[in-house]
Amino acid sequence: TSTQKDNEKKLAAAAAVKFVQEGSIVGLGTGSSAFYAIQEIAALVKQGMQIQGVATSEQTAYLAESLGIPVLGFDEVHAIDITIDGADEFTTDRKLIKGGGGALFREKIVASMSKQEIIIADASKLVKQLGAFTIPIEVIPLATNYVLQELKLIGGSALLRKKSGHLFVTDNGNHIIDADFGLIDHPEALAKALNNIDGLLAHGIFIDLATKVIMADGDDVVYF
Ligand code: A5P
Repeated sequence: TSTQKDNEKKLAAAAAVKFVQEGSIVGLGTGSSAFYAIQEIAALVKQGMQIQGVATSEQTAYLAESLGIPVLGFDEVHAIDITIDGADEFTTDRKLIKGGGGALFREKIVASMSKQEIIIADASKLVKQLGAFTIPIEVIPLATNYVLQELKLIGGSALLRKKSGHLFVTDNGNHIIDADFGLIDHPEALAKALNNIDGLLAHGIFIDLATKVIMADGDDVVYF
């Protein structure tokens, strides 16, 4: 049920925030799971802990600032100590699909800049094989038709994401393509093939970026 999922997200978020230390620069994720982590981080700030945030989306920047977390711009940051973010799917070897909320490009930059990237998830996000969730892809608008064609050539069926009748626009002014490759046998190979497409800014396959996944399953917390 959705309340059980919410409880699991909260539990995973609380477990992750225990890794945040005094003086840290903390990457703040996007989505409903990250929301709970941001609440917990705000509570630490209220208690006097020195923390500075880096936001993976405008929505998260707004939320964090409204809760009193100081938020740094990307031009002010060279490395991030720890990031807590959600995912749409993960495997036990910490491969992920992210970007359901459309924030994948900044999420990937933040993850790449982070010494620790902790993913928090409810139990529904754990999969044997990635790919039931379509892969979000951020594309420069003028390259949209080209990228759609290239995705078809490598076996994906792709749709431009819409939101209330209009094309979805990311925080970076770009569009999102949701690409379906079925269940993915070789995520590394697919990630490479996607990276080779010009005009494609970022895709939602995250490999070797998450240093830990914390999943709550009912009242249990499981670490991957
Ligand atoms: C945002 O772009 C995504 O990568 C989110 O991290 C992902 O969609 C998970 O969101 P929830 O925590 O709301 O499921």
